[in-house]
Amino acid sequence: MAFDQSLINDVLHHADIVDIISRYIDVIQKGREYVALCPFHDDRNPSMQISKTKQIFKCFVCGSGGNAIKFVEMYEHLNFFDAMRKVAQLSGYSDPRLEIKSNVKAKDPQIVNLENCINDLNVYYQYALNTSEGQEPLKYLNQRGIDDHIRKKFQIGYAFKDGVSTCKYLQSKGHSLRSIELIGIASVNKDVYSDLNQGRIIFSICDSNGQVVGFSSRRYLENDDSPKYINSPETPLFHKSDILYNFHNAKNEAKKFNYVYVVEGFMDAIALERIGISSVCALMGTAFTNQHLSLLRSLGVEIRFCLDGDEAGQMGHMRVINMLKNSDINCRFVKKDTNLGKDSDEILTKHGQEKLKQYLNNLLTISDFIFDYYENTSSLKSAKDRQNLIKYFLPLLLNCKSELEFDDYIDKLAKVSRYSADSIRNLVNKAKLDKEDDPNKIISNFHPEKKYLNRFRLAEKEILYYMLKDEKAIQFYENNIETFYDDIYRRIADYILDFYHQNKNINVSLLTSSIEAKESSNSDEIIKEILDISFESNHPDNVDKNYYESVFETIQKEKNKLYKKMTLEKMLENKSSQDKARILADWNKKMVKTKS
Ligand code: UTP
Ligand code: MN
Repeated sequence: MAFDQSLINDVLHHADIVDIISRYIDVIQKGREYVALCPFHDDRNPSMQISKTKQIFKCFVCGSGGNAIKFVEMYEHLNFFDAMRKVAQLSGYSDPRLEIKSNVKAKDPQIVNLENCINDLNVYYQYALNTSEGQEPLKYLNQRGIDDHIRKKFQIGYAFKDGVSTCKYLQSKGHSLRSIELIGIASVNKDVYSDLNQGRIIFSICDSNGQVVGFSSRRYLENDDSPKYINSPETPLFHKSDILYNFHNAKNEAKKFNYVYVVEGFMDAIALERIGISSVCALMGTAFTNQHLSLLRSLGVEIRFCLDGDEAGQMGHMRVINMLKNSDINCRFVKKDTNLGKDSDEILTKHGQEKLKQYLNNLLTISDFIFDYYENTSSLKSAKDRQNLIKYFLPLLLNCKSELEFDDYIDKLAKVSRYSADSIRNLVNKAKLDKEDDPNKIISNFHPEKKYLNRFRLAEKEILYYMLKDEKAIQFYENNIETFYDDIYRRIADYILDFYHQNKNINVSLLTSSIEAKESSNSDEIIKEILDISFESNHPDNVDKNYYESVFETIQKEKNKLYKKMTLEKMLENKSSQDKARILADWNKKMVKTKS
């Protein structure tokens, strides 16, 4: 997200989140705060909280949250920039910087030119397979089970070895060199334009309307050591993260089948088509995105994920599950069977139609997939991961109708989380008694192992809560506390300090956008934690420095207890070198203090 942070700040300053959200859904005022039925999952009681003072929202059931821009982004399925424009528009704020990338309704003439150019090229690539040079790649396709019918349906082609001729052909059709560059196929060397895909088999990639937007080319010669696939770069037409291969066909087939398969590559999509399952689309070697999810969701049928059986593919399934959160999406996962083969194409080639059909019909629900994953693929490492697993299952356990099913879940959960079945059962039963159904609140009371760690984290969190709204707390942290023991809290504190030094104030709503803009690997997790903490209601108002002093004392006391019980090695385990240095410094300081 290469957007001007000051523009984001200006837009948010002129917007009011309660006003923005209430343009879309009913918002109910409750004392100082506001609540609403969450539009991002099937909500029966208002689970979405909106804070006017902090300008953020958060759903306690599905976990979605953020500032006003985030809400519009999610609600309208817009990209960040368009969501920001919309927020500005709804708040009556105009700014020339928002007009740069105007989202005109009529098709941009440049786009029309590029589409014409890429359409001509698409025809040319397919024609090339019918020439004498095309016979060898055609033979390769046939060997891989791709007959003429499949080839035409999937618009598979070939790029002549002489890459310059591709560009000459397009020029002869009246396309400019600029267009040829902009569709992403030209490599320019000393003013000579040639085709990046030269001498390779072409898979045409269409958007959801069936318009060709890019290509992926595959090597086919035995001795070719170039990359297996070369994909179009990002172009005005081709936005890889928006695209599911073959979605335009799947879209028309899904209703007939009542499901859609999501597989991992071109050849897998084709394998399913070959056995008559034409309701299939494929990821192109990239991560699954929210855009993919909304495309699939719009089909209104069961989504059947079938990524490769290797670690990467199975982890891909887990990432999908994390994205779905607890939304009531209708999906299942094909159970991997690495004895048969790593993917659908291999299974079809090695074992034939019937085996592939059987494989594709062995479907696991989300929960069964998770259990299966942790039992067989890898085990949970950190305490945080283990707790997150329990947290994930809480809604399911709380709503479980059958006793047998309940016991079954508890047993499986105990096995993979390595918590005792009793402690999980107690946690759930207590939540039921307390009529508490917020997984975050329930899990925050789950500390089966170490009591002191609990008190310790709570104290750190207490300070963090105030740091998110009070400059004095930030200064207190900087001057007295310096570092938190908890990884996530320490990271959040770092972000707060950065923000504070840049802006000379603190503002949660702006903070979340600035963290998002940095696009670090775990920014989602961090933002979620920030929102959780900001919405906590168990902290006294109007505290002063004395209060921070007293919480800090608790932190010190608990830290000393912890330091006594833990070895230094254990504390440094899995820490980054930067964190190690800080912990070490802190440890040395403590040791001196306790001695004196
Ligand atoms: P695979 O290696 O599984 O390819 O990568 P495949 O489609 O099964 O092809 P075959 O069977 O080996 O011929 C899955 C997807 O990842 C992307 C492609 O979209 C591919 O379909 N990929 C793979 C790349 O973009 N680049 C690569 O070098 C490899
Ligand atoms: Mn594959």
